[in-house]
Amino acid sequence: MKHYLQFKDFSAEEYGYLFARAALIKHKFKTYEKHHTLLDRTLAMIFEKASTRTRVSFEAGMYQMGGSVVHLTTGDSQLGRSEPIEDSAKVISRMTDIVMIRTFEQTKIERFAAHSRVPVINGLTNEFHPCQVLADIFTYIEHRGSIAGKTVAWVGDGNNMANTWLQAADLLGFTVHVSTPGGYEVDQSIAGVRGQHSYRVFANPLQACEGADLVTTDVWTSMGYEAENATRMQAFASWRVTNVMMAAAATDALFMHCLPAHRGEEVDADVIDGPQSVVWDEAENRMHVQKALMEYLLLGKLE
Ligand code: CP
Ligand code: NVA
Repeated sequence: MKHYLQFKDFSAEEYGYLFARAALIKHKFKTYEKHHTLLDRTLAMIFEKASTRTRVSFEAGMYQMGGSVVHLTTGDSQLGRSEPIEDSAKVISRMTDIVMIRTFEQTKIERFAAHSRVPVINGLTNEFHPCQVLADIFTYIEHRGSIAGKTVAWVGDGNNMANTWLQAADLLGFTVHVSTPGGYEVDQSIAGVRGQHSYRVFANPLQACEGADLVTTDVWTSMGYEAENATRMQAFASWRVTNVMMAAAATDALFMHCLPAHRGEEVDADVIDGPQSVVWDEAENRMHVQKALMEYLLLGKLE
């Protein structure tokens, strides 16, 4: 049994399969062709943080595959009343076929997975957001072909998305140019990447964008860090993706943002709403890649 707790849980070869499968699943969705490979399977979704895209994409995706969904939050379950994670994992995984969790520390999802009878998917932790980067790379491939050998500029916080991009670059053979304010750097030991060959650090965000094939950013304050908001607003003021940064990137560079976005903070409106932005494809693709992911975790490779 496999879990998907961080990007490096799968090999490059498995990603090749998933991207091809997601393309097929997306085509069937677009042409109203049934794809009921998870008939009668049940997905449990546990949210300890807010969500729009993750909830809708997993829930709609599971129904489209013939399955059903149970939605739990901290506030309306015993999870918020200190039932041990291990006990919750044992119970929930006896009644459902697959579990998606959005929570705080990565250790919480690891503890759940260690006591689960069924596959567990990371729907975002403080450390990682693998489903998002899965969708982002699928989106890149749709628009530009293989990401191998390309350069991705990360402008902003050294957060869960940044850590996941580092893992993806290490695995799939591209380079990340990382620019964060001082004190918000990526921690190589969290990403667990083998060295700095797949990423380069830039003090200046404009330099990080020079020649990049993809420019991407994220909120200045991630969920769980709201108490730091005022300090972060000051520290991140120069880490806003602007048209000047996009002009420094490759002429056919794409812009991505996992959303939700704050126009005028981490990105200017004319960038996220401009011609190089693929953020709506990126959001939609969450559903297609996660359908491929759930199918793979439950049934293995098909065809
Ligand atoms: N990008 C993302 O995970 O969005 P939600 O927080 O809306 O799920
Ligand atoms: N880094 C953000 C991503 C939200 C989808 C957060 O963790 O809040």
